[in-house]
Amino acid sequence: MRDNRTGQEYDVPIVDGTIKAADVGKIRTDEENPGLAVYDPGFVNTASCRSSVTYIDGEKGILEYRGYPIEQLAEHSNFLEVAYLLVHGHLPSKAEYDAWEHEITYHTFVHENVKGFMEGFRYDAHPMGILMASVGALSTFYPESRNISDADNRHMQIVRMIAKMPTLGAWAFRNAQGKPYVYPDNELSYTENFLAMLFKMSEKKFEADERLVKALDVLFILHADHEQNCSTNAVRSVGSSQVDPYSAVAAGIGALYGPLHGGANEAVLRMLRRIGSKENIPAFIEGVKNGNERLMGFGHRVYKNFDPRATIIKKACDDVFEVTGVNPLLEIAKELEKIALEDEYFVKRKLYPNVDFYSGLIYEAFQFPPEMFTVLFAIGRTPGWLAQWLELVQDKEQKIARPKQIYTGDRGLDFVPAAERWKQ
Ligand SMILES: CC(C)(COP(=O)(O)OP(=O)(O)OC[C@H]1O[C@@H](n2cnc3c(N)ncnc32)[C@H](O)[C@@H]1OP(=O)(O)O)[C@@H](O)C(=O)NCCC(=O)NCCS
Repeated sequence: MRDNRTGQEYDVPIVDGTIKAADVGKIRTDEENPGLAVYDPGFVNTASCRSSVTYIDGEKGILEYRGYPIEQLAEHSNFLEVAYLLVHGHLPSKAEYDAWEHEITYHTFVHENVKGFMEGFRYDAHPMGILMASVGALSTFYPESRNISDADNRHMQIVRMIAKMPTLGAWAFRNAQGKPYVYPDNELSYTENFLAMLFKMSEKKFEADERLVKALDVLFILHADHEQNCSTNAVRSVGSSQVDPYSAVAAGIGALYGPLHGGANEAVLRMLRRIGSKENIPAFIEGVKNGNERLMGFGHRVYKNFDPRATIIKKACDDVFEVTGVNPLLEIAKELEKIALEDEYFVKRKLYPNVDFYSGLIYEAFQFPPEMFTVLFAIGRTPGWLAQWLELVQDKEQKIARPKQIYTGDRGLDFVPAAERWKQ
């Protein structure tokens, strides 16, 4: 690298297609001034870690967990097995899977006080806010979780969190509906049990249609990890302070809550409802192109040709609608997609439907209110957050997250006390 300010040249090794920011820092005009830094809002071109969890090739539309293509996992695996894969780094043997399933199943109950805690929320509290707070609160129920250097202890918290997330999510939902909480049923599979806690009323045994269970399980798999996205970065950033994993994951839930991240599918449905009918699509698209608003569910920071998850979800849509009947908004969504994919504005910017474009329609077919969509995303993403957290706490190269800034404010002002400033 050549510093144009001084003409001096530096050898900066390139390793794994990256240069070390610390090496760039050695480039300086003189000893007085700080070394060169990199300005990268949103970390668009900055690697913050080494990771062996998830591989993405945005140009080619490839997504792999621990090397396995998402398409194969969605078709042949189940969410608990994928969770095992993400956390442990390899597929389980029969004995490993049975033990894992048993552990997760038997940790689905939460402390009774959690119920009281949840009841303290206002009747209209957003379930994502409840989930974030209750996952954070779990750190107080399991204070030993702060001992993050102990492998067994870490494992225990990972099991607990994957196990309890559906219970907390379902209870947040029941809270909003004013319905009694349903306790976990250990005889049901992970995803069936979740559906039971959501929808069971007076029937003795809750039975869900297998196609719906499979579709929801696939959706969980598709959301299980996505390398260094905003919420995972939040989990890692907060986790880098060596706080307990519940607090770190609560931070991830906060990040996921935002409309540009997990909240997008909720925004997609609101958008589709606002459009109302196919005739209104051209005017809506014009508004998007004029920069008045965004076409929610389109575009991705990483995928620039297609989102492989969107393809799988479209198929799941058909399966679910076979059971529930077609959602009328689907027609608008399909037409919107068709028009947008042919429009130069979207083609030029490589904007394609992402995972959220269709997932909201499926969730609605399950009769989830839009506020629940992000909660479903959070349940699916939990093993990914935990796999990344586990990797972080064992990575010797990691440090507490502390980005640099370019200071743009005033310097050295003289403070005038309020009594004097306010005299006139
Ligand atoms: C996901 C997202 C935040 C990625 O953003 P990004 O990588 O930072 O991309 P940018 O915001 O820089 O967008 C690049 C260009 O495409 C446009 N663009 C991006 N997404 C757009 C969308 N959904 N609708 C309309 N225009 C969009 C931007 O206006 C920008 O245009 P410009 O070059 O004329 O200024 C963005 O595409 C978005 O807001 N999508 C809608 C929300 C969504 O579906 N999120 C879920 C992600 S899984």
